[in-house]
Amino acid sequence: MKSKKIVILTGAGISAESGIETFRAAGGLWENHRVEDVATPEGFAKDPELVHRFYNLRRAALKTVKPNAAHVALAKLEDGLKQNGGQLTLVTQNVDDLHERGGTKEVIHMHGILTSMLCGTCEHRWEYLEDASPHLSCPKCYVKNTSRPDIVWFGEMPYAMHVIEERLSDCDLFVSIGTSGAVYPAAGFVQMASSIGKATLELNLERSQGSHFFDESRLGAAGTLVPQWVDEVLKV
Ligand code: OAD
Repeated sequence: MKSKKIVILTGAGISAESGIETFRAAGGLWENHRVEDVATPEGFAKDPELVHRFYNLRRAALKTVKPNAAHVALAKLEDGLKQNGGQLTLVTQNVDDLHERGGTKEVIHMHGILTSMLCGTCEHRWEYLEDASPHLSCPKCYVKNTSRPDIVWFGEMPYAMHVIEERLSDCDLFVSIGTSGAVYPAAGFVQMASSIGKATLELNLERSQGSHFFDESRLGAAGTLVPQWVDEVLKV
């Protein structure tokens, strides 16, 4: 096995074949809503009802989708690397829970997750699977009216950046799957990795914005490319 410590970054493209629309595809997720209204702290302060409604619909939609072959293959990779003394660090920009439902045990949701709520007062985070409203109170500090979807909005710092940077500096290979490379800091991981001599690979339907930074790009659907690549990695 050539690569034992692998960091993977996934984006909306890995969930596309499960039926969740990507951000930048025509008719994408922000349809009928301005990003500023539903994905910024200012939007939430202005109209919390609207923001909760927007994320309630997306949370409910999770119940109608299933992980695809790419999610399942990454769970197999996590197991396979572990059995060989290696480690998979799976970082996702996605707020769906399809990696977990596909079987991956450790997932870093750098942009948050739909199945969690965040208290705007004490910053407690808790699992939440139902519809939320501005009146929800925090189970830890009991303050009402400040609970919000646990999503990293524009202008906010993504989660776990120090862990991600540590894992990047300690890996053999960085792989980007199904992301357009348009949103930083995630879009900068490839430069971070290659500047310290790590091998880099991109698996995407089309060339991403940072495609030229990768050692290798394989173009195609994640549901086909990812299982093929995982089999290659796990072949002893
Ligand atoms: P994008 O919608 O920007 O990009 C999705 C990428 O996946 C595109 O490059 C597509 O070509 C590719 N793609 C589509 N279908 C695919 C398939 N079946 N197999 C492989 N690739 C496929 O989504 P992200 O890059 O994830 O941030 O977007 C990054 C961030 O922008 C999101 O996390 C979100 C958004 O603003 C926040 O919400 C903070």
